[in-house]
Amino acid sequence: MPLGMAESAHEDPTAWDVATRLVHGGAQRSSFGETAEAIFLTQGYIYDTAESADARFAGSEPGYIYSRYANPTVQMFEDRLALLEGAEACRAQASGMAAVHLAMMGLVRAGDHVLAGQALFGSNRWLLNNWLPRFGVETSMVPAADLGAWKAAIRPNTKLVLIESPANPLLEITDIAAVAQVAREVGAKVVVDNVFASPILQKPLLLGADIVVYSATKHIDGQGRVLGGAVLGSKALLEEAYRDAIRHTGPALSPFNAWVLLNGLVTLDLRVRRQSETAAILADRLAGHPKVKTCRYPGRSDHPQHEIARRQMTGGGNDMLGGGTLVAFDLGDQARAFSFLNALEIIDISNNLGDARSLATHPTTTTHRAMTEEQRLEIGLTAGWVRLSVGLEAANDLWRDIDRALAAA
Ligand SMILES: Cc1ncc(COP(=O)(O)O)c(C=O)c1O
Repeated sequence: MPLGMAESAHEDPTAWDVATRLVHGGAQRSSFGETAEAIFLTQGYIYDTAESADARFAGSEPGYIYSRYANPTVQMFEDRLALLEGAEACRAQASGMAAVHLAMMGLVRAGDHVLAGQALFGSNRWLLNNWLPRFGVETSMVPAADLGAWKAAIRPNTKLVLIESPANPLLEITDIAAVAQVAREVGAKVVVDNVFASPILQKPLLLGADIVVYSATKHIDGQGRVLGGAVLGSKALLEEAYRDAIRHTGPALSPFNAWVLLNGLVTLDLRVRRQSETAAILADRLAGHPKVKTCRYPGRSDHPQHEIARRQMTGGGNDMLGGGTLVAFDLGDQARAFSFLNALEIIDISNNLGDARSLATHPTTTTHRAMTEEQRLEIGLTAGWVRLSVGLEAANDLWRDIDRALAAA
């Protein structure tokens, strides 16, 4: 929906390279000719006439109606992210969990079955264990890296397959193309939570996914400021599965947050590349340190699914860029993990990730606390594991901090 600026006569944004898409994609100017995109901090819109209001509600006249439905600043963010992802359409959400929830609820009804990997962000797992069953939707989970287990667990009534790859927190990799093929055989839709890879490293739609979801709170903001989320896919599927649910349940992203995220996208490629380069350096040093029992990083050849990561974490054509911005490592037990975390001086303790500041997390007592001990053991998550989200600081400063903290562990 144009805001007043004429479309460019020559430029097709889908022909742009990633860097250009991130600076100019989706941008629209009002009649004031502002350089930076405007924040349209408005709940609603006015109509010149009663007939015009009637026509807009009927859908026969273009224009905004109410910011729970759509908003110009939110739309700029949606269009820029869709252009980056190579998706036909994007609907922004108030948080990553609003996006995951909408993505799943819009595709299932009572009597359906949902299949997912066991290795999932705690809240994703909660939706599967506690929420969907309340509405008569059966759910089951399989070891995320075991293709045979996905094949064995798919059912004729499986309508949705949820993949998180790399998974939070131990970075298991699911073969997205292979699992999408299994899903297609029963007509199930594939939803990929692409938060850990970010749209720079992995393009699930090219691998056969129907829907991609993001917590924009992570790499897309990248500076620890706002919550946000997004659901991306084909125009037809977004219309059919989500349009009315968005209008009537209200998970709309605030225009202010959309503006912050729109500007976060401008530097996303640079940040993810640099953070991944640094993460790869730190992962190698961690793996060689005597206090570290195991270091898990998709870019290292000793990662159990390294070959799959090499194939699918290429950004749809880019190099692997090291293997992402996250590293996980096992210090043996909770006491050592806590001593390590408490001795850090540059790296902060936080449950967030994808930030310009490096952040360290103890998953069993924070992000994955809601899981039972048994569920954690299924994915190999014990109390010695630390998840490190690598930021934009210099690799050598980060290593000095880590090395000193390991000495205290
Ligand atoms: C893989 C994954 N999905 C979804 C979310 C939820 O995102 P938000 O915190 O923006 O709701 C997170 C947050 O940590 C996550 O790690």
